[in-house]
Amino acid sequence: MIAITGASGHLGKATIGFLINKIDPANIIAVVRDPEKMKDFPGIQVRVADYDDAASLRDALSGVKTLLQISSASYGDHATQQEKNVVDAASGAGVQHIVYTSTVNPGSQPIFFGSQTNQHTENAIRASGITYTFFRNSMYMETIPQFIGSAMEDGQIFYPAGEGKVSFVARTDIAEALANVLAAGEKHANAAYDITGTGAYSFSDIATLLASEKGLPASYTDIPASAFRDELVKLEMPPIAVDFYISMADSVKAGEFAHVDGALEGLLQRKRVVLKDYVRSL
Ligand SMILES: NC(=O)c1ccc[n+]([C@@H]2O[C@H](COP(=O)([O-])OP(=O)(O)OC[C@H]3O[C@@H](n4cnc5c(N)ncnc54)[C@H](OP(=O)(O)O)[C@@H]3O)[C@@H](O)[C@H]2O)c1
Repeated sequence: MIAITGASGHLGKATIGFLINKIDPANIIAVVRDPEKMKDFPGIQVRVADYDDAASLRDALSGVKTLLQISSASYGDHATQQEKNVVDAASGAGVQHIVYTSTVNPGSQPIFFGSQTNQHTENAIRASGITYTFFRNSMYMETIPQFIGSAMEDGQIFYPAGEGKVSFVARTDIAEALANVLAAGEKHANAAYDITGTGAYSFSDIATLLASEKGLPASYTDIPASAFRDELVKLEMPPIAVDFYISMADSVKAGEFAHVDGALEGLLQRKRVVLKDYVRSL
């Protein structure tokens, strides 16, 4: 039995979409808050659990051999506690292998809050003694439209990341590679993979791509972090979310997402999606 937390999200659904063609769908368990969201996958099992409810997670992971633990969508200490709840539940339920989605190239003291959470969870998984496979993902190409906002219309990007580069990777490539690893089992025991695109790109580079691939009069302005913070506050985000997004920009500026690695092509056994082609498809 292979269970997937966060199964109703973009990465979870995409991974299940590949996995149902590799193993018997009856052996896939989607762990979700809302079963209605899984009705596009009629052959799989669906169990209800919430990251904030340890007992529900223990029940949902009963009889599971392999778990794809998709990282929490929350922030800071809350995210760290949610992910610890999943690891504890997996440990209690006798799960033998956790495949966990972490963040690329985590240094010893990452700036990005998400990387800090992922480090805690990697450590908790290692401490549990459960076999692990870490997918240390760079940023998804599919998040670029959120970063660049109205630049999709006018080409003008405003973001406080200096000339920091990101090794953007297609979420669909990650999903297919995850499905390959889940189907292959112990071959990937106790491995950590940096999952990145083919190169690293600054937001200036993205502006250049918007110009060449979409014909937009594009440019990038490196705004002060304080101006970005003011914009996020205006959106009435909770303060912890504001700090999370500021930490993301600071981490890009510091080069935390610039690492490029070839592991993904080994897991896919084919070439990765190239950023230029993704931008052209927008
Ligand atoms: N590398 C990147 O660029 C990047 C970008 C964004 C996020 N991420 C990380 O990667 C993860 C997967 O990405 P994604 O695109 O699939 O994110 P997503 O579409 O936002 O999916 C998040 C998933 O988490 C579930 N979830 C949220 N709160 C939960 C809770 N309290 N208990 C149980 N499940 C809960 C959601 O369930 P519902 O359907 O019920 O809401 C959904 O299935 C994210 O959670 C985040 O940690 C990475």
